[in-house]
Amino acid sequence: MPDMARLALPRLLLILSISAPLSVSAQGGNPYEGDRTAMRAGAALFGTRCAECHGADAKGISGPDLTLMWAAGTSDDRVFQVIQRGISGSIMPSSSAPDREIWAIVAHVKGLSTVSPFENDTGDAERGQEVFSGTCVRCHTVNGRGGHLGPDLTRITVVRSRDMLIRSIRDPSASVAAGYRTVTFVTQDGQRVRGVTKSEDVFSIQVVDTRERLQGYLKADLQELTRVDRSLMPQFGSDRLSDSDLDDLLRYLGTLRDADSNGR
Ligand code: HEC
Ligand code: HEC
Repeated sequence: MPDMARLALPRLLLILSISAPLSVSAQGGNPYEGDRTAMRAGAALFGTRCAECHGADAKGISGPDLTLMWAAGTSDDRVFQVIQRGISGSIMPSSSAPDREIWAIVAHVKGLSTVSPFENDTGDAERGQEVFSGTCVRCHTVNGRGGHLGPDLTRITVVRSRDMLIRSIRDPSASVAAGYRTVTFVTQDGQRVRGVTKSEDVFSIQVVDTRERLQGYLKADLQELTRVDRSLMPQFGSDRLSDSDLDDLLRYLGTLRDADSNGR
């Protein structure tokens, strides 16, 4: 399939450039929203320019999953701007492509972004809350309370399907959430530090360590700076978390999202 997309690219681009006399600006939404020809051209462009990092299905490799941004509340304009400007301090490049090509890519990625509604009708939410308080809350915040080593999970069921959540819990290292890459190093005074990278440039790195302190370091002062593919989240196999506990937990997480949206 990717080969076919590559072969079809020149023709699609041609179609795109003749069918694009519209004035395409970064304001006022995507002129190609739902336009099938443009979306096909966008798919081909995505395949050559973005797939190496974001995956052919846009579900993420070294770059993050892009199919969840709309469910998380982003806008077409914002996605356009991120693609055009890139993200400084990361490998996400800027793009000098014409606006219409960027809009075609936005239309394509948005087309992939249908998150199936979260369904978990079984399980006991109250028991799930107990499991959460016992095992998860020291690293994860919900409703403003809990730890910060991992992401806030209050609205996680809005942006992740049940299957993806199960995968994140049973096998956290299979895909590590953006902004939570694990790093280890030894400081000048010989302390060994493990944590998640919050930001980084050529000279310095900011890390939340396993004791939850946000600390900045000069790279020149560090030894054995190592990026680790493994998540800092422990693996919860069925020996540590039974299927029924997991079911209760997911039911509980599903209730948070409802309480949160009622509160708005
Ligand atoms: C060399 C790898 C690489 C390439 C090529 C790349 N990206 Fe990225 N992209 C990343 C990384 C890494 C991030 C996360 C950066 C961060 O937040 O620190 C990112 C972030 C993004 C984001 C923001 C995601 C969010 O949740 O806010 C969008 C949108 C995006 N990329 C779209 C694209 C598109 C479209 C292309 C192709 C035109 C592309 N990227 C090409 C690596 C890449
Ligand atoms: C020692 C700290 C720690 C504990 C304990 C922990 N987590 Fe995590 N968790 C993390 C970190 C760090 C990440 C981010 C890296 C990653 O995606 O694996 C994470 C990621 C996640 C994600 C993925 C979030 C996303 O944006 O995709 C889910 C879901 C999750 N944890 C659920 C749980 C649940 C449920 C428990 C309790 C059974 C738990 N975690 C226990 C540290 C922890």
